[in-house]
Amino acid sequence: MQRRTLLRGGGALIVAPALLRHARGADLPRFALGIASGQPRADGMVLWTMLTGAGLPERVTVRWELAHDEAFTQIAARGDEVAELAWSHSVHAETKGLEPARWYWYRFSALGQQSMVGRTRTAPATDAAAGFNFVIASCQRWDVGHYAAWKHVAAEELDAVFFLGDYIYEYATNAKSIRPVEGGHVRTLSEYRARYATHKSDPALQAAHAAAPWLMVWDDHEVGNDYANLQGQELEPDFKTQRAAAYRAYWEHMPFPKSARPVDADMRITGRLDWGRLARIHLIDDRQYRDVQVCPKPGRGGSNTVALKDCPEFLDARRTLLGMDQERWLADGWDTRRPWNLLAQQTLMARFSRTDPANGGGTYWTDGWDGYPAARRRLLDAVAQRKVPGVVVLGGDVHANYVADLKADFDDAAAPVIATEFCGTSITSLGQQQARVDAARGFNPHIRYARSEERGYMRFALDAKQLRVQVRVVDNALDPASGITTAARFVVDAARPGAVAA
Ligand SMILES: [Fe+2]
Repeated sequence: MQRRTLLRGGGALIVAPALLRHARGADLPRFALGIASGQPRADGMVLWTMLTGAGLPERVTVRWELAHDEAFTQIAARGDEVAELAWSHSVHAETKGLEPARWYWYRFSALGQQSMVGRTRTAPATDAAAGFNFVIASCQRWDVGHYAAWKHVAAEELDAVFFLGDYIYEYATNAKSIRPVEGGHVRTLSEYRARYATHKSDPALQAAHAAAPWLMVWDDHEVGNDYANLQGQELEPDFKTQRAAAYRAYWEHMPFPKSARPVDADMRITGRLDWGRLARIHLIDDRQYRDVQVCPKPGRGGSNTVALKDCPEFLDARRTLLGMDQERWLADGWDTRRPWNLLAQQTLMARFSRTDPANGGGTYWTDGWDGYPAARRRLLDAVAQRKVPGVVVLGGDVHANYVADLKADFDDAAAPVIATEFCGTSITSLGQQQARVDAARGFNPHIRYARSEERGYMRFALDAKQLRVQVRVVDNALDPASGITTAARFVVDAARPGAVAA
């Protein structure tokens, strides 16, 4: 108040330069990257924001408030967090002691400014009957499209948003860009941070974060295309340092708890939560612990598309996509009491052969589950042996909408369906031509729906009896105001795996 009076009174001329800088700082938007919530539990969730703008002190106290109403007349909880320069002034507030299955509103304040208001919710109590409305989304490459899909996600009535990887892309802007990203190919901590800042500046994405809690896994582009464990696509000599920088920037910008904060090049995103007595949700990581891809291009890491007959390594039973520890964690944690098990993971699990498998075993992309067939078989065998009910595999990565039956033996038309797969398309990232997908459809009859030129998300309504699914597709991903339509509908019965067109 005093300072403002001083400046208004024309006293600015005699104010010390440090004070002037401070006064100008007060005008900078301090919550320019929005807010988010994540990891909903029956008694709390993580609230996220990050202070922005130049001239921030090393440590800033940020107040958070959580209320029962949008006007914040009934405060349910509040607290202070210290945002530190070393962690990009990010805030990861962990609320506890809340009521289950409730909507809450939250906001932050610091340095005389207030953030936007977000809505979030707690999960139902572990033994409560509940429904579950959610979307899956992935792959939001900035420079090839606009985030119209997020605008529509924000308008859906949702309990949660699953984001299944490729939140950023590390690439430099190329000729196809419709809105350029700053900087070149991303490899360092400051470059990763800048790339997140670009993505998170989008108002539609901010609105989607503010609409519901998010459950998140990463894929490759949060670090680098097709990386596997500690190997980059270019066989970079110091890839571990790059992965550490990428994981650090990811944690800083996402609603993960403090316990998930990375140590060097390690960060655990694997986790599990129960949605009442309706569903158990498993979130897994197929990047950090995997064996490197088989039969790469000469002198390179990363993916390739190769025929099985030219690459017998495909079938090596020791190879793992999740790492043996995570494989065991997943196999031991399937829920046989709840009607549904939702597996949130990165990529297409169903086999997708480019050539006739009857003729030499087929041709496969080595980066996805097709590159790790023994590991896929172990996962699906565990589901079948334990008679795990209602397994629904959710994925992204391939920039196409796929709906598939998952079977232990994809070549056996009579093999029972063990689980149902919904692999959602990208928010913006470009997919392959539909004609290429269609050319391979006949080799993969277990795939019920395959559309590679659709952009958008999948919307799910789950109850104890059935899962209802809408494939939501934007009219034009190059238009930030694009409309959206439901391109297809499916239903899965709790008693019988496999999607049925509705
Ligand atoms: Fe992607």
